Amino acid sequence: MIQLLSILLQPSFLVLVVTAFCVWYYLKHRNLPPGPRGLPLLGYGPYLGPSPQDALYDLRKQYGNIFSMYLGPNLTIVLNDYKAIKAAYIDQADIFSGRADGFIRTHASAGSDGEIHGIATLEGELWKISRRFMLQTFRNLGMGKNRIQEQILEEADYMRDLFAKSTGTPFYPRPIISAIVANVICVLCYGRRFDHNDPIFREIINDNVTIADTFAQAGPMQSYPILRFLPGKFLTTWRKYKVAWNRTIGFCGKEIETHKKNLQQNEEDADYIDAFLNQQKKVSASGSEIEQKAFQHEDLLFNVRALFGAGTETTTASMSWAFLYMMHYPDVQKKIHAEMDENVGRDRLITVDDRVKLPYTEAVVREIQRLGNVAPFGVLRCNLEETTLLGYRIPKRSFILPNFLAVNMDPKLWDNPESFQPERFLDKHGKVTEPPYFMPFSIGKRACVGEALARMEIFLFFANILQKFRLEAPKDYKLPGINQKIVRISSEPVPFKIQVCVRD
Ligand code: HEM
Repeated sequence: MIQLLSILLQPSFLVLVVTAFCVWYYLKHRNLPPGPRGLPLLGYGPYLGPSPQDALYDLRKQYGNIFSMYLGPNLTIVLNDYKAIKAAYIDQADIFSGRADGFIRTHASAGSDGEIHGIATLEGELWKISRRFMLQTFRNLGMGKNRIQEQILEEADYMRDLFAKSTGTPFYPRPIISAIVANVICVLCYGRRFDHNDPIFREIINDNVTIADTFAQAGPMQSYPILRFLPGKFLTTWRKYKVAWNRTIGFCGKEIETHKKNLQQNEEDADYIDAFLNQQKKVSASGSEIEQKAFQHEDLLFNVRALFGAGTETTTASMSWAFLYMMHYPDVQKKIHAEMDENVGRDRLITVDDRVKLPYTEAVVREIQRLGNVAPFGVLRCNLEETTLLGYRIPKRSFILPNFLAVNMDPKLWDNPESFQPERFLDKHGKVTEPPYFMPFSIGKRACVGEALARMEIFLFFANILQKFRLEAPKDYKLPGINQKIVRISSEPVPFKIQVCVRD
């Protein structure tokens, strides 16, 4: 022991250790994008404050459009303008198609076999098979076509009835919006809608908010799971999450079991669960090993959960922004009303075929999406292998964080980006135009899988409400500003009341 100590304390040994550390440090950090220093173990996270997207945007002045920082122990590359996001997500689409690791994320997709399942977290070939099948199924189910439109219009009509009942009395619209949006996903996955007052339905909607809250608040717990056992904020968050998660997964599991007993093989009547179960049977009889692996029970379970999670909060937030903006901009509302009256009328519901007749309404929706910036960082990605991006080395499995606010507010891309100007989405002939840097659903191979559905929902809900109502700020009520927001995974306005008047 004494002999060992004397070797360790030899100056030559200490020099060797220090040199080895310097070489290791140099190799680890060589040619990384520059960036701010953070705290030991915690990294730069504690400095980001309540509005991280703004803090990151400000760092652009110092470090440019790509920089690195540590979030906990994880090297994170911030893509802070369109050029940087495009260089990663389009020009090196396959390499940047991974999902960042994290304790809660992994917990939310770990099967009983200890492996990752489900489209939102899978990578490589399994993710490709899962995604291809989901997109194909959505097409078969009529996404962007009549079948799903009928369901959305049914919900839109229901929302109009609920709004009409409240005419003259101010109310919080979020519970109605979240229920109609959730019902669209329920029809897609389970083949049925729920009564808005059904306690189980309301419970899964609330659980979804709790789960989103956990993802937002988990922060250091993603890297240091042990924190969930310490009394205090993390333990409370973890407990709430577990209750919400188990209940949600239990609900999805029950729906799957019911479908197994009454499987629809006919494409016309099938929903996503039926389609998956049919495919599962097919691949278990004659599919390759990897196909069989992609269609396991837990892939279905987590996909159904992911569709609900990803498809309700984001669309609810978008609709909430839309209503709030209309109350702040009555003149824009007037122009929409005039466009509708002139080109569609009021005696039938507005459908997707009317989009071409309502370019101004379409432009307003896009401008709300740009300023609402509902998914400020998308869903964190990672690079599957080491690569070079804009001249910098990006080590394998770095966290990749696109700051979409930086794109939406870039004065080089948008004239006067802070101002609400729907006309920026119209060309000189008055037709809708969308620049490639308009990316509310992200871009590249891993962009939002529900984009077509979300676009359809937002347009149909928004247009059909405005066709019938004028939205007004209640009298003697201080309407929250459009800069007041709550950021979970998605960013939405703080709760606000609305007053609707049937148009005369
Ligand atoms: C306004 C509404 C929506 C917005 C703003 C939105 C935005 C996004 C964004 C930014 C991503 C991350 C993409 C990336 O990694 O680059 C994403 C992923 C995803 N979204 Fe959406 N989304 C919306 C609605 C929906 C709907 C309605 C569904 C379901 C039908 C859905 C399902 C998904 C899924 C499953 C993923 C993960 C895809 C993958 O990992 O391959 N989203 N979404």
